[in-house]
Amino acid sequence: MNHLGGSAMRILVTGGLGFIGSHLVRRLLREPEVLVTNLDVLTYAGNLANVADVAGSDRYVWEQSSITDEVAVDRILRETQYDAIINLAAESHVDRSISDGLPFVKTNVVGTQVLLEAARRHQVGRFVQVSTDEVYGSLGEHGYFTELSPLQPNSPYSASKASADLLVLAAYRTYGQNVVVTRCSNNYGPYQFPEKLIPLYITNGIEGKPWPLYGDGLNVRDWLHVEDHVDALWLALSRGQAGEIYNIGGHNERTNRQVALTLLDIMGLSPDIVVSVPDRPGHDRRYAIDPSKAMRELGFFPRHDWTEGMRETVRWYETHPKWWQTIKSGEYLQFYQRQYGRLGDAPHES
Ligand code: NAD
Ligand code: TYD
Repeated sequence: MNHLGGSAMRILVTGGLGFIGSHLVRRLLREPEVLVTNLDVLTYAGNLANVADVAGSDRYVWEQSSITDEVAVDRILRETQYDAIINLAAESHVDRSISDGLPFVKTNVVGTQVLLEAARRHQVGRFVQVSTDEVYGSLGEHGYFTELSPLQPNSPYSASKASADLLVLAAYRTYGQNVVVTRCSNNYGPYQFPEKLIPLYITNGIEGKPWPLYGDGLNVRDWLHVEDHVDALWLALSRGQAGEIYNIGGHNERTNRQVALTLLDIMGLSPDIVVSVPDRPGHDRRYAIDPSKAMRELGFFPRHDWTEGMRETVRWYETHPKWWQTIKSGEYLQFYQRQYGRLGDAPHES
C-alpha cells in the first residue's frame, strides 16, 4: 500500500547530506512508517556530520552517488521500489555559479532529468522537486512572487533551477508523471554551510573577522527557518496535487543590513565589523514570497519566530565550533580568498 495510503513508505531524498536535506532526513524519520535512502555524492557542501544523529537508524541508508550518474541512479531505483523522490541535490551557491556555471547545469539540470527519467522507468509514486523563489528573478519595492509569476532567473544558479523546474513540469504534461514543485525563499538555521550570508556572519563574528556586505546592503531576502521549510516539504509530498507548484515562505522580508543589525544585537558586536564590498554581479534586489496557496491547500504554517530563530541559530554555531571550523579550511579557504581576498582577513586555517 502507498502512495501515502499506509504501511512503510520508502522515500529517496537526494542531497540529504547538505543543509536543508539533512533537516529533511531528520524530519522524515520522525514519521514512524518512513524509510529513507539518502542519495548524495558528498560535494564540498555535503557533510556526514549533518546526519550523524540519525545515521545509525535502521530506517536510514546513505548511497554515495551522483544524481548525474545514470547507471547508479538506475540501479538504486531498480533495487528498491520507492514511493517518492524528493530532489534537493544541487549546486546551491549563487556566487560560485557566477565564477563557474557548468557544475550547476550538470547537477541541477542534467541530474534532475536523470532522476526524472529513472523515476518514470521504475514507477516511483511521486517526484518532489525542491526549487527556489530565485527562479522568479527580482522584484521591485512592492509585490510578491506567486506561482503564476513569470520565470525570470538572473544568475547561472537560478537559471539552472528554473530549467530543472521546466523539465519536471514537462514530465507531468507529457507523461502524466506525478510531480510537485516547491519554491521556497531563503533558509536559515543550524548546519548551513558558512559561505551563505547568515552562517558566514555568525562564524566570522565569533572569529572576530569582518562581515562583507555587498553593494548598498539594501537587497531584500525573505527568510524562513529551515525546519519550517522541511515541514512544508512533507506537506507537499503528502498533500500536494500532481502537476502543481507551491511557493513556501513566511512573510519575513529583511534587507541584508537588517539581518546584520539583528546579528550584531544578538552577538553583542560593534557595527565596525560590517565592511562594504563591491556588489555581486546581477544581484537580485528583492525576493518576497506569497505563500497563501501552500497555506490554503497544504495547511502550511511557519512556526518559527525570526528573532528567536536567529538567537537559536547563533547559539547553535557558538556551541558547535568544530562543525564549522573543520569546514572553514581546505577548499573553503580557497573559495573565501577568491571571493573576499580584498578584505585581507581570511578565516584562520586550523
Ligand atoms: P547545500 O549546498 O547545502 O547541499 C547540497 C547537497 O547536495 C550536498 O549534500 C551535496 O553533497 C549534494 N550534491 C551536490 N551535487 C550532487 C550530485 N551531483 N549528486 C548528488 N548529490 C549532490 O544546499 P541546500 O542549501 O541544502 O539546498 C538544497 C536544495 O534546496 C537545493 O536544491 C536548493 O536549490 C534548494 N533551496 C535552497 C534554499 C536555501 O536558502 N538554501 C532555498 C530554497 C531552495
Ligand atoms: P546568500 O546567502 O548567498 O543567498 P542568495 O544569494 O541565494 O539569496 O546571500 C543572501 C544575501 O546576502 C544576498 O543578497 C547576497 C548578500 N550577501 C552579502 O551581502 N555578503 C556576503 O558575504 C554574502 C555571502 C551574501
